[in-house]
Amino acid sequence: MELSEVIKTRRSIRKFKSDDVAREIIEDLINSARLAPSAKNRQPWEFLIVKENIKNEIADIMLEQEKKSKISLERKIYNANSSVKTTAYIMKEAPVLILVFRLKDDNWIIGDLLSIGAAIEHICLRATDLGLGSLWIRDIVYTRDKITEFVNKDDKELISAISIGYSNESPKQRPRKQLTKVLEWY
Ligand SMILES: Cc1cc2nc3c(=O)[nH]c(=O)nc-3n(C[C@H](O)[C@H](O)[C@H](O)COP(=O)(O)O)c2cc1C
Repeated sequence: MELSEVIKTRRSIRKFKSDDVAREIIEDLINSARLAPSAKNRQPWEFLIVKENIKNEIADIMLEQEKKSKISLERKIYNANSSVKTTAYIMKEAPVLILVFRLKDDNWIIGDLLSIGAAIEHICLRATDLGLGSLWIRDIVYTRDKITEFVNKDDKELISAISIGYSNESPKQRPRKQLTKVLEWY
């Protein structure tokens, strides 16, 4: 697919078929991430692929925390972020979850986070190019420490996740601000 077509047709996918995704395809996605630009070429990322029970247990960690938060002081935070439950069920439905970790270095937080964002977008665009659906996920952040411990990556910081699989929906383009609203010529 032409790059412009990939950019135009990419969507956040929230309904997935149960078909698994071949290992070579996942490697292709991570290879695309590896080629992303990064501040000072630090390449501050690591990707962990989880499937089946491990993936579902990660979603359960989010669901348990969401349930607890309803009766705790954290309620305010969760009310403001009530997509956690929906996202956790999407993670269960998609056959593949990519966890994205940052190699910790407090002096480089902004640059490293921007770099990781670039790498994640490479994954999402390449997924579209290969006929796959993807969902970029921030909702893991509220349980990031528990998830990190669960997958034994205590020396790294969990930044984001991406659900991957074959799409079972064809959403229309979501609303976007007009070009004239976001672009100014000085
Ligand atoms: C940094 C980031 C975090 C996101 N986190 C979530 C999430 O946790 N759950 C979810 O359902 N969608 C999440 N999304 C998807 C956005 O809701 C989506 O990109 C936006 O609504 C525009 O829709 P589109 O991607 O189909 O164009 C996230 C997107 C980005 C870029």
